[in-house]
Amino acid sequence: MLTEVTATRYVTPLREGGSLPGLVEADDLVPYVMKFTGAGQGRKTLVAEVICGQLARALGFRVPGLVTLDLDPVIGLGEPDQEVQGLLKGSGGTNLGMRFLPRALGFDPLAYVVDPAEAGRIVWFDALINNVDRSWRNPNMLVQGGELWLIDHGASMIWHHNWRGAHAWADKPYDASDHALARFGPEVPAAAAELAPLVTEELIAEAAADVPDVWLADEPGFDTPDAVRRAYVETLRARAATIHERVTLPAGGTPPAGTPGWVTEGASR
Ligand SMILES: Nc1ncnc2c1ncn2[C@@H]1O[C@H](COP(=O)(O)OP(=O)(O)O)[C@@H](O)[C@H]1O
Ligand SMILES: [Mg+2]
Repeated sequence: MLTEVTATRYVTPLREGGSLPGLVEADDLVPYVMKFTGAGQGRKTLVAEVICGQLARALGFRVPGLVTLDLDPVIGLGEPDQEVQGLLKGSGGTNLGMRFLPRALGFDPLAYVVDPAEAGRIVWFDALINNVDRSWRNPNMLVQGGELWLIDHGASMIWHHNWRGAHAWADKPYDASDHALARFGPEVPAAAAELAPLVTEELIAEAAADVPDVWLADEPGFDTPDAVRRAYVETLRARAATIHERVTLPAGGTPPAGTPGWVTEGASR
């Protein structure tokens, strides 16, 4: 189970992505990026954030810590922005919180070099979860103190929008042509050899166990939240086995020579 905290102050919207997450403070005095259950993409975005985020962490990637954030919409009453006001009103109860990374820079593939092994691990992981939201246009990675962090897994596991066809996703390919790390020569087969054996039923089940029941309840075709969790485990487990054989990467390309000093120095101050 994720730690449960309560939002105490809405600070500001983060307008970079599409879902309008907000920076909030909570009763543990930690700043969080709040992802709203009432956002347009719905609660499945939050389910994907938890399962993929926890799985990524278990596989050794840097992912900001996750909590559930209880929201009383009253904290947004003074919010002048209509869109934010609506989001807060529609999101009473359990939302997702992600530890805010201070002084983090958005990943820029022209300014930061990733070695082929790390690029391979990230591309393989994105192939596993079918993440369509880590392109060079919208990398959804942050750099803090010279280290790369993964964020925003909300647009992955598309199969959870149609569970009846989910089993077919075990064999579907992953197009990484536009992936933010495609230009770094990602070593996907090596990453698969290292990571796929770690993606056991137990590991995925642990990640799925962290999803609050309220986001899984009343899923059509399932009797209980645990039955939905098992469906996530099965699809990811099946996909892990051979997905590396079906990753499309662009041919050729010269990776850049080095990360400029200001990227690493600036972030570690
Ligand atoms: N944990 C975090 N720490 C610092 N900044 C963050 C964090 N999470 C998100 N952000 C910032 O907020 C933006 C939007 O968040 P994101 O999770 O990508 O949501 P979406 O794209 O769905 O709107 C990110 O591009 C990033 O600039
Ligand atoms: Mg985003």
